[in-house]
Amino acid sequence: MIGFSRTSEELTCDGVPLSVIAAAEGTPLYVYSAALIRRRYRELNVAFGDYPHAIHYAFKANSTRAIVAELKAIGSAVDAVSMWEVEVARAVGFAPRQIVFDGVGKSDAELESAVALDLKAINVESTGELQRVEAIADRMGTLARVAIRVNPDIDAKSHPHISTGLKINKFGIPAEDTQALLPTFKNRRAVQLVALHVHVGSQITSMDPIRHAAVRLAELARVAHQAGVSLEYLDAGGGLGISYDGGQVPSFREYATAFVDAVRSTRLPIVVEPGRSIVGPAGALVARVLDIKPRTATSEFAVIDAGMSELMRPALYNAFHLIEPVDARIGGLRQYEIVGPVCESGDVVGRDRMLTPLDIGDLVAICDAGAYGAVMASNYNRRPLPAEVLVDNGTWRVIRRRQTLADLLALEM
Ligand SMILES: Cc1ncc(COP(=O)(O)O)c(C=O)c1O
Repeated sequence: MIGFSRTSEELTCDGVPLSVIAAAEGTPLYVYSAALIRRRYRELNVAFGDYPHAIHYAFKANSTRAIVAELKAIGSAVDAVSMWEVEVARAVGFAPRQIVFDGVGKSDAELESAVALDLKAINVESTGELQRVEAIADRMGTLARVAIRVNPDIDAKSHPHISTGLKINKFGIPAEDTQALLPTFKNRRAVQLVALHVHVGSQITSMDPIRHAAVRLAELARVAHQAGVSLEYLDAGGGLGISYDGGQVPSFREYATAFVDAVRSTRLPIVVEPGRSIVGPAGALVARVLDIKPRTATSEFAVIDAGMSELMRPALYNAFHLIEPVDARIGGLRQYEIVGPVCESGDVVGRDRMLTPLDIGDLVAICDAGAYGAVMASNYNRRPLPAEVLVDNGTWRVIRRRQTLADLLALEM
């Protein structure tokens, strides 16, 4: 069995009981299935068929070295949103030309490194940033490869904090301004426009915004072509949602077909930057119940040893994650408010959950935590970053050890 499944009442990852891993490594603990990561990458890859494409996995979703090394081994390239992610990618062995570099606020130091490295593209998000790249490349006597991140003014209908394609969002250059900018690339000395890029948001569960954005990208590619600017590819961003609650989400095939249909007439290869859809379902955060206390006449608090410091999504976006007991106890369903240990009332991991009875010491798994989980963990309340474990082929290994007190104090004098 690949991924998280229950065998004889016990929750396992690729067949390895989560209780065995937690007993050895303690909690809270991230556990990932290498096989599921590989399978999801391959399914997306196959969904594009023979249309020329490249998958640039979005490091922001989860950039633990062992995980990105898995993806590298099966052909993935990189989408980075900071020079730190670029450097992690290089440390894992990715070549600069396998890396696209996004981000709405790149410092001069970041841009200088990006230009010097000759990345596949620096995706510029404003005309000001374009000018900064141009000035840097000019000074270095080189030609910088850039893509324009287009803001298509499209509502991704995702959570407002992860919708990025509306004019009121801080991202990208408005489509009309891009259109006006395109002909200028014929005469620029120090920058070469290699692509147009769009990313309208994350956890998108309807194909319409994705399709509309791809159509807009193709229209602009035709404008570029007519202006005599030849692009190398179109970058359609990431954004495909996953099912956190069992509801229907578009398949990889629907996602790929929407892009390919929209851009086929341009004959340009497609780059995609998926993060969540590759690693989200392949990870769980395993925690232990620390306390059970009364709440209302019909519900109790279950206080667990993971909260907003380990998984910020519920507190940040009111995000839903399925929570399951690792060893289900016999008994009728009870209502629990599953809360973390952090000193904030907002540190609620799951509201009003109906679960088989929990007791102090029990393990629970917070499901679909492979994306935007460990990467967003913090040291709030001086809590150490949790350990991470990768299960592969019936065995498991620690891929990031738990922080220690010495780690927590290492930067302080
Ligand atoms: C520019 C860019 N590309 C790709 C992604 C990855 O998105 P997702 O994890 O939804 O696939 C993001 C995340 O929002 C992003 O900002």
